[in-house]
Amino acid sequence: MSKAELLEQIRKKILVELNDHLRESAQNLVFGKGNPNARIMFIGEAPGEQEDVQGVPFVGRAGRELDKLMRSIGLTLDDAYVANILKYRPPNNRDPTNDEIKAHTPYLVDQIKAIQPKVVITLGNFSTKFVLADFITDRMKTIGGISFLHGKSVQKSINGLQFKVYPLYHPAAILYKPGLRQELEKDFLGIKLLLDQQ
Ligand code: URA
Repeated sequence: MSKAELLEQIRKKILVELNDHLRESAQNLVFGKGNPNARIMFIGEAPGEQEDVQGVPFVGRAGRELDKLMRSIGLTLDDAYVANILKYRPPNNRDPTNDEIKAHTPYLVDQIKAIQPKVVITLGNFSTKFVLADFITDRMKTIGGISFLHGKSVQKSINGLQFKVYPLYHPAAILYKPGLRQELEKDFLGIKLLLDQQ
């Protein structure tokens, strides 16, 4: 079965199995976009308003920032697959709860296993904490999660599948903290190096 077919199976499984309160308040499932055969996978947090309307991740303001950052290193959606921790929008874009993360992430793990990326870019605290749960120490949490972890790659394996995890600030962060733009642009250059090493 092709990777695209595997993803389609996962999408259908979500529609059958994941019947929680987020689905009730949301308009659409936001599953993923991009190339299922890409070597690089971006993982965001949760759909926002525009993503919920269109059923596609990163199509609002944060998405435009992500597009710009990708273009700055010559990447398009042909080179990457993009998905989120949560598959349905939380009301008013509030933070995901632990229960929601627990219910939605098995499908994200299925997506990672289907795509078999070489590099996984976690965007922001929630996706970084989920993917690197066994790596993050209490000390790192005290120092402040993503502000400590961003821009450094970590080797990770899920069921024998090996990949590099490269945490970055969430592109939405530069909308309310413009000072982070430079940092994020610099970290993006590191993606190129990581891909060249694969
Ligand atoms: N922010 C995210 O983390 N994901 C989206 O899909 C949109 C905004």
